[in-house]
Amino acid sequence: AAAEKGGYDYFMLKEIQEQPAAVADTLRGHLVDGRIVLDEQRLTDQDLRDVDKVFVVACGSAYHSGLLAKYAIEHWTRLPVEVELASEFRYRDPVLGRSTLVVAISQSGETADTLEAVRHAKEQKAKVLAICNTNGSQIPREADAVLYTRAGPEIGVASTKAFLAQLTANYLLGLALAQARGTKYTDEVVREFAELEAMPDAVARVLETVEPVRALARELKDSRAVLFLGRHVGYPVALEGALKLKELAYMHAEGFAAGELKHGPIALIEEGLPVIVVMPSPKGRALLHSKMVSNIREIQARGARTVVIAEEGDETVRPFADHLIEIPAVSTLLQPLVSTVPLQVFAAELAQARGYDVDKPRNLAKSVTVE
Ligand code: G6P
Repeated sequence: AAAEKGGYDYFMLKEIQEQPAAVADTLRGHLVDGRIVLDEQRLTDQDLRDVDKVFVVACGSAYHSGLLAKYAIEHWTRLPVEVELASEFRYRDPVLGRSTLVVAISQSGETADTLEAVRHAKEQKAKVLAICNTNGSQIPREADAVLYTRAGPEIGVASTKAFLAQLTANYLLGLALAQARGTKYTDEVVREFAELEAMPDAVARVLETVEPVRALARELKDSRAVLFLGRHVGYPVALEGALKLKELAYMHAEGFAAGELKHGPIALIEEGLPVIVVMPSPKGRALLHSKMVSNIREIQARGARTVVIAEEGDETVRPFADHLIEIPAVSTLLQPLVSTVPLQVFAAELAQARGYDVDKPRNLAKSVTVE
């Protein structure tokens, strides 16, 4: 078993390190003669052109990857995208038809709620595309088209490399739809793909610099709670960071949209409460960045201990960061591929510092096959 873990104490730690490969492998072979190709395509180009609405359905971390898919797919395709927990989807009587594309994201391909959402979508005549990490599992078998994430088997119950691979596949899907529909992004697909191809190196650089994140996690191990704040794509990343901490460290953790602070969460701020903030790029997203700086000042003034994840060279945020975690500058839509990584490391290290088994957190299963 020790050999299987490749020298790590836990599969999860090995899987965190495998993320550059998971991203690279998921991209491989999907750009052919300037066009994005899916794996199993039982949908025609005409089907993709006819799509007028996208629903993303998933559970857990896969749902967070879906929330992030919305930013990219809407931006690149101008198609409206709704993201919904699979467990809520079919009970709500969602409006579906032949021109609806339902994207089911699932690492295992066996999650009961996601599978039932797929069946409901098909009954309503919607087209279904599965983004899945497990070849031949049930969800891809029932879908009309499949895009496989190639993260390899994920053993740790808390998703890490499969999550980054899902983000990667979501971007591929966004580009494929943009191309099929002939939006203005059609001409940029090759350039965007090249940016994606640079991401494994960016993720590897983050992994080389996470030692201070580990030290910080050990320092904060007895905190009563940890809050996570983000805006734009930083918001789903904040949700994922909080989920990881709940799953692994059994700690109260919540992710919030920074703009909602004044509508409630700021009342939670007390002396010494750690708040992890995911910053947008100061250059790429100057307006969002300045709003986040104001949010950090507000919480710091109320005693929060600020842990700030910011782009390298972001000087304006430095004075308000009690702890600064730097990530490489990448384009805004792709930033979650790098900003999620320190949050995974933080949760895993904190859980270990509290003496917990990060591969097998209590009460959780890798794949939830009952509703
Ligand atoms: C469980 C796992 C999570 C995963 C979720 C969805 O809760 O612990 O890591 O994100 O199921 O699983 P799926 O296989 O559908 O992606």
